[in-house]
Amino acid sequence: MRKALSILLVMALLAGVLGFVPAVRASQAVVVRMTIGSTKATIDLKQVVLDQPPLIENGRTLVPFRFIGEALGAQIGWNPTNRTVSYILGDKNIVLTIGSATAMVNGVKTTLDVAAKILPTGRTVVPVRFISESIGAKVAWNAATRMVTVTMAATLDVGIVLPTKDEPRWLQDQTRFNTALKTAGYGAEILFSQGSSAIEKQNVEALITKGIKVLILCPQDATAAAAAADEARAAGIKVISYDRLILNTSAVDYYVTFDSISVGKAQAQYLVDKTTGTKNPLYLYAGAASDNNAFLFFEGAWDVLQPKIANGTFVIENSSEAVALQGKATLTRAEMAKIIGQITTNWDFTVAKNLAEANLTVATAGKKGNVFILAPNDGTARSIADAFAADKDVKSYVITGQDAEIPSVQYIIDGKQSMTVFKDVRTLVKDASAAAVDYLTGKTPEKTTTYNNGKINVPAKPSAVISVDKSNVKAALIDSGYYPASDFTGLP
Ligand code: BGC
Repeated sequence: MRKALSILLVMALLAGVLGFVPAVRASQAVVVRMTIGSTKATIDLKQVVLDQPPLIENGRTLVPFRFIGEALGAQIGWNPTNRTVSYILGDKNIVLTIGSATAMVNGVKTTLDVAAKILPTGRTVVPVRFISESIGAKVAWNAATRMVTVTMAATLDVGIVLPTKDEPRWLQDQTRFNTALKTAGYGAEILFSQGSSAIEKQNVEALITKGIKVLILCPQDATAAAAAADEARAAGIKVISYDRLILNTSAVDYYVTFDSISVGKAQAQYLVDKTTGTKNPLYLYAGAASDNNAFLFFEGAWDVLQPKIANGTFVIENSSEAVALQGKATLTRAEMAKIIGQITTNWDFTVAKNLAEANLTVATAGKKGNVFILAPNDGTARSIADAFAADKDVKSYVITGQDAEIPSVQYIIDGKQSMTVFKDVRTLVKDASAAAVDYLTGKTPEKTTTYNNGKINVPAKPSAVISVDKSNVKAALIDSGYYPASDFTGLP
């Protein structure tokens, strides 16, 4: 079974950021084996040496207090004044007093068959069955081998569902979740929807069955995902919309995202800054109409581009719908939908390539020359750039992107893509994890704004983005530790 994303791991992530290690429940399966009278023990079959062999007293097994707590992932405490040892794991809080047959489990008095004690060697030992079972682990005793086996079953607290493995963008998210989780000693349960809302729903249902308490969902289709969110809500699960907003349902508790309007603005501003004179040919492309972000990116871009279209800096070459609306500074969603319907790439490389080629086929040489291209993201930018580069009437092009995907960073270094908008996925992973932990510990995540999803105002925390081109690619992406320099050739 895959290791589960645990409260512990997300807390550990936070711990890294905030500098504390809160007590949380481990979600990882653990098997601990100890033998009476032997210092040799195993944790998940890995040999460890105990500083004190387990012993039997009153028919009960006593084991080193620190060892059993650490093996099960508990936070251990020792209070020399009260002579108490404590274990905190998830919602369990256990306190034993040296020499006392009374222990406290979550504030409730419990009587022990055998007390915790300090041996003449100075080592503290505790009753293994009491500690393990109070924490939620099972204990087995083999009289023949005199071996105690403590088994802690894995639990899955958080499930993550991402749109597709076919775009490097979402592999970045996967990598960042995994890296963060591995550092904390745990793995994540991440499932991919492979561009299908039906698979997405199955993924969510599978995670619900596994007992998740928080769902982090990046919807394939914003509206279709509402059904999956509703199911999760009905099962008592908190739903965090990740990067893309789930629309038309009240079953969204929180939204972690980048500021997508700023993404569009950064792309458009880059194009504007590269223009000289007037009548610069402008080719517009957009994301999938089923993705709310596609509207936000376009809205941000239009905000910056429209005045420059109105004043003649740009001439839109590939969208009659955009031309029809070019006098309007602010577009309604329905108006944007009309334009996007004409220039959508559907977030698909092939659709993007075919559309760009079709646009170039009908455009006369006069509409080419030195062109400006609003490409919505890196994957589509590479396809569109390749199509424009192959056209003999295109003398030069400036093309946007977003996501700082490795192949696009290489394109930027090689001068084949002009810019990208860097969305630091580490931040998104951190925010999503922090929100998950908040829910798991009964808190409400911090919101800085709300996004209306057609049904409710969803509390949200958008984060900033950075415009990257050849001039700052090294500082933004390599020096920041986001990618190793060895991923690229010819870095400036
Ligand atoms: C994301 C982009 C991504 C695009 C295509 C958008 O919702 O915000 O980062 O490139 O989807 O997957």
